[in-house]
Amino acid sequence: MKRRIENCRVLVTGGAGFIGSNLVEALLAARNEVVVLDNFMTGRRENLAPFAGNPAFTLLEGDIRDMAMCRKAAAGADYVLHQAALGSVPRSIKDPMTTTEVNISGFVNMLFAAQEAKVKRFVYAASSSTYGDSTALPKVEERIGKPLSPYAITKYVDELFAENFSGIYGVETVGLRYFNVFGRRQDPDGAYAAVIPRFVRSLLRHESPVINGDGSYSRDFTYIDNVVDANLLAMAAVEPEAVNTVYNVAFGERTTLNELFLYLRENLAKFDPAVAGIEPQYGPVRAGDIPHSLADIGKARRLLGYEPEIGVKQGLELAAEWYFNHPAW
Ligand SMILES: NC(=O)c1ccc[n+]([C@@H]2O[C@H](COP(=O)([O-])OP(=O)(O)OC[C@H]3O[C@@H](n4cnc5c(N)ncnc54)[C@H](O)[C@@H]3O)[C@@H](O)[C@H]2O)c1
Repeated sequence: MKRRIENCRVLVTGGAGFIGSNLVEALLAARNEVVVLDNFMTGRRENLAPFAGNPAFTLLEGDIRDMAMCRKAAAGADYVLHQAALGSVPRSIKDPMTTTEVNISGFVNMLFAAQEAKVKRFVYAASSSTYGDSTALPKVEERIGKPLSPYAITKYVDELFAENFSGIYGVETVGLRYFNVFGRRQDPDGAYAAVIPRFVRSLLRHESPVINGDGSYSRDFTYIDNVVDANLLAMAAVEPEAVNTVYNVAFGERTTLNELFLYLRENLAKFDPAVAGIEPQYGPVRAGDIPHSLADIGKARRLLGYEPEIGVKQGLELAAEWYFNHPAW
């Protein structure tokens, strides 16, 4: 039986976002009190609507670049799950200043406020982009390359701060390097949408999704429930070697963009037969993209007891059904 945190007060920054709102749901289900700090820069109010009447839920609308707000949010928290960030590589290339302010200064504010508040642990969203130009596969935590985007730099700098602060201030940290997360509530809107909701949105509008490159690029697509599980395990881990370190959080399997397109088309066609005839378009490769990514999840298995339960195909089926049933998304 996996150990779980219950009856604690947990601050989820970025709780109005895709991953954050799924964490909030799981934490409330485990009878925790949850505080969300979010400025709705990319998050959605609908993501928090189901929790609005819950007495165990508090929303603080504010910015992690505001230190006073970070202190207010951290006060009384047992744990922090820090998800707030600007999470797109192309956005960080267009506007590296804002990504740096939010992802580095905001991160330092939140981590400092968390150690002042003497939280038990600060678990934060790191990123597979930290592997940068390293071509080695699968990716193991200790071997990283040079970052390929401002976003990747910010996420790596966060890891350095976390390690440094745990040494200096004694705050416990765990970094989770997420690999291409997908599932319910991931935003399909806007120029910076992730590939899966973007493909789904196009297919449901009977438009041809654009695949960047020839479709042979591959990723370790990770269903949201596995990511939620990794966070809960990271909060609960008791072994000293399990904390003040970083983990890959993925499924451990590689899927090309062409395969991804075919799976999504097949699943959405079950609900809307007209989708079956749609073909993709091919566009240029994006700056900052690496050809392949695949995680070695052995460290999380060993030290956190992480066992991802939902594979890519099953996750895509669940995601397709969810988007079909939520046309407003
Ligand atoms: N989705 C992925 O595949 C993926 C992969 C690797 C890492 N990550 C990381 O996971 C975290 C969550 O990503 P997501 O996909 O849920 O993105 P998201 O955009 O849905 O969520 C981010 C949330 O942070 C909030 N936010 C942004 N700037 C803020 C600020 N200055 N102050 C307060 N709140 C702010 C947004 O409003 C949003 O609700 C991010 O740190 C991201 O870098 C995500």
